[in-house]
Amino acid sequence: MKISIISGSHRNPSQSEKIGRYVEKLFNTEFSDIDPFLYLLADNPLPLWDQSVWEDNPEWAERLAPLKEQFSNSDAFVIITPEWHGQVPSGLKNLFLLLSRFELGHKPAFIISVSSGTGGTYPVAELRMSSYKNNRLCYIPEQLIIRDVEKVFNDNESDNDQRSDGYYKERLSWCLDILLGYAKALKTMRAETEINNDKFSNGM
Ligand SMILES: Cc1cc2nc3c(=O)[nH]c(=O)nc-3n(C[C@H](O)[C@H](O)[C@H](O)COP(=O)(O)O)c2cc1C
Repeated sequence: MKISIISGSHRNPSQSEKIGRYVEKLFNTEFSDIDPFLYLLADNPLPLWDQSVWEDNPEWAERLAPLKEQFSNSDAFVIITPEWHGQVPSGLKNLFLLLSRFELGHKPAFIISVSSGTGGTYPVAELRMSSYKNNRLCYIPEQLIIRDVEKVFNDNESDNDQRSDGYYKERLSWCLDILLGYAKALKTMRAETEINNDKFSNGM
């Protein structure tokens, strides 16, 4: 099963990337038969959406083809977002403008938000409120809000707050297992249901 992990920070380096690499490692070591694909928005690899995306601009088609292939073949997503001024970073919102129901539709997604302080709630609310409408990504009820992110998930154990680190890691493994459960269930649902109806191509 293929799972895409999207690190939504366009800072380089970033705490989101640190978490993304941990999730990738976990899929490779703790779970069997998972093929993780980690996609980093570090340094803004994608230009801002423009009108020509809808006019079959060949440059856009070429740029997006490899990404669309990876995402179309994915059965589930882990979306990692930092809180930036109370928001999801613009690069991550831009990615959602560039993707569609054909890559993401009716596939489960698990949100991880990160904050160096006590934030992290707003980007979860923002993703759940407005990022799925047309692409039909299905956010699962579980989410992980990693507060004081600089004190957990570090390779050097002495940099970690042991109690928080242990708690987040245990909870993350449990949540990823739930995500895989949804991935299996929704794969069957997509195969057995008419999910694409061109009359209703956009969500309401
Ligand atoms: C532009 C910017 C705005 C930020 N705004 C917030 C904020 O509103 N709330 C918060 O908890 N942390 C905020 N932070 C701190 C981030 O939580 C912290 O930098 C975290 O590491 C960001 O994740 P990243 O390293 O993956 O980009 C902000 C950081 C940046 C760079």
